[in-house]
Order: sequence, then C-alpha cells, then structure tokens
Amino acid sequence: MSRELQRTLAIIKPDAYSYRLIGAIIGEIESKSDLRIIGARALRLTREQARRFYAVHEGKPFYDKLIMFMTSGPIMVLALHGPDAITRWREIMGSTDPEEAKEGTIRSMFASDVTFNAVHGSDAPHTAAAELTFFFGDTDLIQPR
Ligand code: CDP
Ligand code: MG
Repeated sequence: MSRELQRTLAIIKPDAYSYRLIGAIIGEIESKSDLRIIGARALRLTREQARRFYAVHEGKPFYDKLIMFMTSGPIMVLALHGPDAITRWREIMGSTDPEEAKEGTIRSMFASDVTFNAVHGSDAPHTAAAELTFFFGDTDLIQPR
C-alpha cells in the first residue's frame, strides 16, 4: 500500500519545553522518521486558546488539569510533513500514558505521567487540518516540493 503524504501538528508541551527537551524531541523526529518540519513557532497558550484547542475533552475528569498544564508555560508547535505523517508522528510519540508507551518512544523517555506527557500529535486527517489552522496560516508553512 502506498503511503500518503500528510501534514500533522506536533506540540512540545510545557513540561518538555521547561526541561529543555526541544532539541532532543526534534532530534527524535529527524533521526527516526522521514518527516520534515515545515513550520515552527514558540508561544504561550492563553486559557481561552487551550480550552478551545482541547474542546473535544471538555467535561472529562482530566480537562481542568490539562488546561492548567497546557497554559503553565511556553510550548513549541511544529507542522510536520511526510509519508503517513499523522500515524508516524503518533508512533514516535508513544501511548498517551508513558507507562504504556513502547520503549524508545518520546513519551516513554521524556513523559512524567498521563497528563505531563511531553508531546501532542493530531489523531486523524480532519483534526490535523483543524489543528494546523489553529496555529499556522498557509503562508507560515513551507510548501513541500
Ligand atoms: O494526546 P493524546 O491524543 O495521546 O491523548 P488524548 O486522549 O487526546 O488526551 C489529550 C491529553 O489530555 C493527553 O495528551 C494528556 O496530556 C491529557 N490526559 C490526561 O491528563 N489524563 C488522561 N487520562 C488522558 C489524557
Ligand atoms: Mg488526542
């Protein structure tokens, strides 16, 4: 089966940002995949932005803690492009809960627990498109050739 070229959104979350793991995480992306970074920006989410970004989880028991965490410090957002980018990036990230994440994945190496889990990745084509638009305009992204 041929692999589809996709874009996805990655976030280096406040825990990883504050532990100075940006380089290590980008190193994992560049050494373990053929995904390319086509956009990048550091920012701090407002409470309203975080609530909107994670609206799908509103009402869940971890929602308030997640919003507190995601607004606790700066993040880096990355737009990734390449073959099966959505699945590929989620494979490199590992499971949401680092205790369940495969050895060698970013979450198994760098996450503290199921909330403070170092990275985000979009989970489907429609969420990837919406999440990329949340942070990047079309002219912010490198056009792959
Ligand atoms: O990030 P991922 O898509 O793997 O997981 P999710 O189920 O979409 O949850 C979004 C985020 O909420 C997670 O990455 C965690 O930071 C947080 N979360 C949590 O704090 N407690 C849980 N039981 C599940 C998720
Ligand atoms: Mg998710």
